[in-house]
Amino acid sequence: MSDRARRPVLAGNWKMHRLRAEAADYAVALRAGLPAEPPAEVVLFPSFLSIPTLAEALAGSPVEVGGQDLHAQPEGAHTGDVSAAQLLDAGCRWVLCGHSERRRDHGETDARVIAKARAALAAGLRPIVCVGESRDERRAGQTFDVLDRQVAELPEDPALLLAYEPVWAIGTGETATPEVAADAHRFLRERLGRRLGEPYACRLRILYGGSVTPDNASELAARADIDGFLVGGASLDPRRFLAILGAFAPSGADPRGTP
Ligand code: 13P
Repeated sequence: MSDRARRPVLAGNWKMHRLRAEAADYAVALRAGLPAEPPAEVVLFPSFLSIPTLAEALAGSPVEVGGQDLHAQPEGAHTGDVSAAQLLDAGCRWVLCGHSERRRDHGETDARVIAKARAALAAGLRPIVCVGESRDERRAGQTFDVLDRQVAELPEDPALLLAYEPVWAIGTGETATPEVAADAHRFLRERLGRRLGEPYACRLRILYGGSVTPDNASELAARADIDGFLVGGASLDPRRFLAILGAFAPSGADPRGTP
């Protein structure tokens, strides 16, 4: 079906948007437009409160649901936090770790992000570990140093994925060019290949995130090193999200599949 080395993943991060009824309506629209055999794994990350609603509304479809964060401890006195077991119980199979907005708003350090990824893996969740440099770091020529530091302790596990999300491209409309994104993805794969071995690095899926839209998705998806997207704003509209999914369809194929 595709000559890609790795099966792509299309992930939608709803951040702090949408109520439960809106999540249910979204699921109906997404299911109606989804091809019989989607050209990528599809995952949605709603707010914690909408997880059960969305997971139930998507049951029996190929679309899976994940949490936007988790605590590194399995349980305990951590007011306001959610554990891996609670995410699984609510219907999640995935979880985001270390999104730059968590690092910014909640002071998450690289060590804490890695501890969260380990907790997710131990519980049977698939973590997507988010990395990426700020605008100042890129201007100062520190991009690769930052990425190197963020993945220095990344655990070796086939269930783990990476997302390269340059902070300057998130919610700004300023997408990384395919060259800039592919350079960062290649750097991450090479770096992890040296530390964890070529076979692991070759299998690792690295998603790109930062102002992905239906207009720029195909050009980014065409890059061999880009294995999918973590989409914010454009994932809030099921039609736009489905249009982005079409970027992974083999060329010439109808992204909606055969009726
Ligand atoms: P935008 O697609 O809105 O830029 O957000 C990207 C992102 O942060 C996904 O996690």
